[in-house]
Amino acid sequence: MRRIPGTSGEILHCVQNDKKRIMAKMNFGGVTEEVVTRKEFPLQKAKDVLKNEVIAIIGYGVQGPAQALNLRDNGLNVIIGQRKNSPSFEKAKKDGWKEEKNLFDIEEAAKRGTIIAYLLSDAGQIQAWPTIKPHLTSGKTLFFSHGFGITYKKHTGIVPPKDVDVILVAPKGSGRTVRKIFLEGRGINSSFAVFQDASGKAKEKVLAMGIGVGSGYLFETTFQKEVYSDLTGERGVLMGALAGIMEAQYNILRKKGHTPSEAFNETVEEATQSLIPLISENGMDWMYENCSTTAQRGALDWRHKFRKAVEPVFKELYEKVKSGHEAEVVIKANSKPDYKKQLRKELDEIKNSEMWKAGARVRELRPGVSKK
Ligand SMILES: NC(=O)c1ccc[n+]([C@@H]2O[C@H](COP(=O)([O-])OP(=O)(O)OC[C@H]3O[C@@H](n4cnc5c(N)ncnc54)[C@H](OP(=O)(O)O)[C@@H]3O)[C@@H](O)[C@H]2O)c1
Repeated sequence: MRRIPGTSGEILHCVQNDKKRIMAKMNFGGVTEEVVTRKEFPLQKAKDVLKNEVIAIIGYGVQGPAQALNLRDNGLNVIIGQRKNSPSFEKAKKDGWKEEKNLFDIEEAAKRGTIIAYLLSDAGQIQAWPTIKPHLTSGKTLFFSHGFGITYKKHTGIVPPKDVDVILVAPKGSGRTVRKIFLEGRGINSSFAVFQDASGKAKEKVLAMGIGVGSGYLFETTFQKEVYSDLTGERGVLMGALAGIMEAQYNILRKKGHTPSEAFNETVEEATQSLIPLISENGMDWMYENCSTTAQRGALDWRHKFRKAVEPVFKELYEKVKSGHEAEVVIKANSKPDYKKQLRKELDEIKNSEMWKAGARVRELRPGVSKK
């Protein structure tokens, strides 16, 4: 029996879906899913599929460099499209890309590329679309790492021509992690999707790109599901809900007379330094089995109360993501000329709050951390 890092499923068996493709069927908590690993889709196969392609990575921000360098190190034909007079252009040069050889402005790279990997920020994708679209000629492929532009086409205006393939590989981690894990010889988990299959070969192309950018295993999704789960996740447990629930607990402890040290340690520090790493390694079930009986009884009882309290908020959040409301808010905010200034104000409010100032001090006092 073989296990794949990052999953708890065991491979049940491999299925030959058609002559060219093999996917592994795996059991995830009782639900069978088809996934693709490097065993089913080796790098050599990816190179064969992509051997005649010029992969134009448009955007050298966070994902761009990671995917471009991994593809290049995997022996694929990569060029970069990045607007000039920008620190990102200089960064690309530092990473070894050569101007007018494999580093161009956005339009030139889009013209030369046969797979156009659209890795600009979501707002950048909207603005640069009129430049990209004319170069999406018949037979080319448009590649994304997020379903935003396509799913919210009503707001983004991104509607690709019918005679191009439109595919997605979304690594489940920051660009820095994508590159770091690759350099360590491991692979990131990624989702993949096909939105438009004009060539009849979009699926093998997307899997080849997935393996090429350094994925360890790939699971299937749709553009819509990718963006709905991603936007719900970052507004929810990953950041919005996490920040909100931490603030609520900190505030109540402070109101009841606890010191900032005590409130911060009981709310954030113990969670991030001790419990979350343990949950990551062993799961929540293990955590419940390996805490004091007092913590265990209380946490088992209160878990239900908290779930019931926040379920309606998550329901509202999902509906707002699904309706396009969240996309509209983001696009509107990002297009305001003073957006960065307003954003700075909001971020400073968090940074200068008692809670997070107390946090900065607590971090300085961690064992082994030298004082700034
Ligand atoms: N961040 C992640 O780790 C991550 C993870 C999974 C998926 N993704 C997806 O990957 C894609 C790229 O994300 P990212 O985080 O790498 O984006 P990012 O860091 O915000 O990338 C910004 C890139 O877009 C360019 N850009 C922004 N506005 C532009 C405009 N108006 N015209 C031309 N270029 C513009 C930037 O150029 P300048 O530097 O010159 O401004 C830079 O090259 C997105 O679809 C994102 O959702 C990201």
